[in-house]
Amino acid sequence: MSFAEKLMNWYRDKGRDLPWRTTHDAYIIWLSEIILQQTRVEQGTPYFHRFVDAFPIVTKFAEADEEDILRLWQGLGYYSRARNMHKAAKMVVEEFQGVFPNAYEEAIRLPGVGEYTAAAIASFSVNEPRAVVDGNVYRVLARYFGIKEPINSTEGKKTFAEVAQEMLDKDSPGIYNQAIMDFGALQCKPKNPLCEDCIFRVECFAFRNGLVDVLPVKLKG
Ligand code: ADE
Repeated sequence: MSFAEKLMNWYRDKGRDLPWRTTHDAYIIWLSEIILQQTRVEQGTPYFHRFVDAFPIVTKFAEADEEDILRLWQGLGYYSRARNMHKAAKMVVEEFQGVFPNAYEEAIRLPGVGEYTAAAIASFSVNEPRAVVDGNVYRVLARYFGIKEPINSTEGKKTFAEVAQEMLDKDSPGIYNQAIMDFGALQCKPKNPLCEDCIFRVECFAFRNGLVDVLPVKLKG
């Protein structure tokens, strides 16, 4: 069985049922992903529900008063995220005729949408084969393959992006992306990963070589 197949089997059994995982609506996916940047799932979930209730479609978000958006955002911090969201929603109305873009190359033009968020939107909404690369993905791949390049170096970022894209399941990129993020969050955790009870313990480079606590490498500064 391939890495992707094992990972997706694990996800079917052990993955979380999160409220944004039942939709293919690019707007709702975007909402969830911006809220979850630098915010834990437990903290972000109630905000996600409040935003969906207040602004069920992107045109409502675009025409909202910024004060109302910022009030709903209170407690999440990084208010530039909320302001960028408002800009992005207005851009969807003006440049995308009110239809939230689900293609990677279009979504990435929106303010506040980087490579990670564009890949999440495109893969979760329409199964565009774009690998997400976040902290979870760095950790899982660094340990599994024994990649020692720093995750915050230019070279490292390129290596991880390439490996991530290579490992991506091209038939089910959306599920694969959710699966690798959950695997990193629940099993291959930063501290006290559950190696004794891991589907990859036979092949994981870090586990075999006692490097689980060393990888991924991150440079200070
Ligand atoms: N953190 C950011 N995006 C996420 C997602 N789609 N599922 C779980 N955790 C996340």
